[in-house]
Amino acid sequence: MNMNQTTNWVEAIKLTPAESRSVYQALLPIAANINSDMALVTYANEIAEAMRDALSTSTVNAIASFTERPETLQVIDGWPIDLLSLPDTPSYHPVHLTNIALYAMILVGYCLIRGECPVSYVHENAGQLIRHVTPKITQQSEVSSHGSTILGPHTDNEHKPIAGVEMGQEQAAAPSTLTLLSLRCDLMVPTLFASVQDIVAKLPEKIVQQFVQPVFIAQPPQSFSSAASAMKEVPVLIAAKGRYYARYGNISAISEIAVDALTQLRTLLNKDSLWLPLPLLPGSSVCFKQNEVLHARTVLPPRPFDGGSRWLLRLYSMQPEHVKPINSEMSFLQL
Ligand SMILES: [Fe+2]
Repeated sequence: MNMNQTTNWVEAIKLTPAESRSVYQALLPIAANINSDMALVTYANEIAEAMRDALSTSTVNAIASFTERPETLQVIDGWPIDLLSLPDTPSYHPVHLTNIALYAMILVGYCLIRGECPVSYVHENAGQLIRHVTPKITQQSEVSSHGSTILGPHTDNEHKPIAGVEMGQEQAAAPSTLTLLSLRCDLMVPTLFASVQDIVAKLPEKIVQQFVQPVFIAQPPQSFSSAASAMKEVPVLIAAKGRYYARYGNISAISEIAVDALTQLRTLLNKDSLWLPLPLLPGSSVCFKQNEVLHARTVLPPRPFDGGSRWLLRLYSMQPEHVKPINSEMSFLQL
C-alpha cells in the first residue's frame, strides 16, 4: 500500500489463503437463502457466526475492536471472489442479489462482527442495503457513485445528523461507517481518502472556529431523491470525544465569513498530499468511519460498457442503538 503521508489512521489486514477459502466454504451453504434484503438481515447472525469461525482469532479481534480504536479506516485484502461466476458489472442492466449473495454476505457478516447493523435509507438507492458503485450508462453526468464525472471530497448523507454526536434529532442519522468491497477495479481510478483530523490540523484556528458554528446548509446529495430535505443551520465540524467529526459535500454557507472558510477548505482539499489513494483490487474491502474520513473519486475515463467496468459493493452501517427504523418489520430501513 502506498502511504505517502501520515497514515496512523489506516489499518491494513491481509487474509491468508486459508482464511479466504474458509470464508468461501462457510458462506456457500447459506448463500442459497439470500434472495432479498430481508433474508440478508434474517440470516445476518448466522452469516457472522460462520465468518467468525472461518477467520483467525487475530482477524476477528481486529475487526471487532475497530469501531472502538482510534484508527478510522480498515483495509482488508483477500476476501474470496469467484471470478469464474462473477456476473457482468451492472452498468445498464440490474443484477439480482442472488447472483452476488456471497459478497453481500461478506459485507453483512463483517458489519456484525464490528458490532454494527446494516442500514439503508428510503430515499437513497431505492432503500436497498447493497449499492452497486459502478458507472451507469444512463447516469454518466450525475455527481454520485453512478456517474463518471469527478466525485469531489465528501461524507455520505451530509444532510443528516452524525450518529452519537448530534443527539436529540428526530430524523435518522447518517451511517457511521461505509464499507466498500471491490469486485472489479480500474487501476486508473483509485478511491481517495483523507483524514478529518489531518485536515483540521492544517486549517488555521480561526477557520476551524468558523466551521464549528451552525452557519451552514447541508443539501441532500444527488443520490437522494428530491423528497429528502436539507439540514439548515448546521456546523461542518463537530468536536466530540476528543476528535473532530465532519459533514461535507453539498454544503453552502449563510454568512460571508463562512463562505470564505469553505473557499479555504476547498483550496486545502486540492492538495494531493492530503489524500490516500486506494485502487482496491478485487477481493479488497475498505471500511471507514465516514464522518472522520472524507472520500472522493477522480473522473472515470471513458470505457466501453462491456460488463467489465469498475464495480464496488457498498454497505452503510451504524451501532444498533442509533438505528431508527421506519417500520418494525424492516429493522434496517430508515427515513
Ligand atoms: Fe460517497
